Amino acid sequence: MLVGRSNVGKSSLINALTRQTIARTSAAPGKTRLANVYRIERASAVLHLIDLPGYGYAQRHRTDDDAPEFGDLAQAVFERKPGALLLVDSRHPGLDSDRAAWAWLSGAAAHAAIVATKIDKLARGERIRAMRELQSVFDAPVVPVSAGTGEGMEELWKLIASLSKPRPPRRTNPNA
Ligand code: GTP
Ligand code: MG
Repeated sequence: MLVGRSNVGKSSLINALTRQTIARTSAAPGKTRLANVYRIERASAVLHLIDLPGYGYAQRHRTDDDAPEFGDLAQAVFERKPGALLLVDSRHPGLDSDRAAWAWLSGAAAHAAIVATKIDKLARGERIRAMRELQSVFDAPVVPVSAGTGEGMEELWKLIASLSKPRPPRRTNPNA
């Protein structure tokens, strides 16, 4: 599950990870409006990458009857306790909305980690500062990536493998 602010690069990251153009991206925020599920076969394992709409984007489409709210979509997906990646823009570490998302994710996901996106936009010194700040704000593993240059994809695949561990068996319903 990929979670993050609108325009942080969730859909672009799916394309970079798979080296295909399967997810639609846009320079304007609010592109992804539904939860898109991609079934990926890799190293003889199957996993599902889920691209969610971004949060923190003014609800331009509120009047659309068919547009589900972020909260409804996220809740439906999180009922399955997936592994989650919180994508944060490496140029803006520690935004309130990202901290709030992390607090919520830590309870909602089985395993979660941070991905610092658009790392190609930072010069070396800025990059070191941003990574330090992200690690201290989120107190979690942070993987720097660029969908533009492909940097960090191998590390990210490893992280995804570690987050996709099978869920523990469901508890049996005593009323069934
Ligand atoms: P929503 O679907 O609106 O929530 O956005 P999103 O998080 O899916 O973002 P998307 O992948 O559509 O990318 C938003 C913009 O950021 C696009 O213009 C991308 O080209 C750009 N972008 C994404 N990743 C990178 C990156 O690693 N480097 C640079 N330089 N630009 C990027
Ligand atoms: Mg998107």
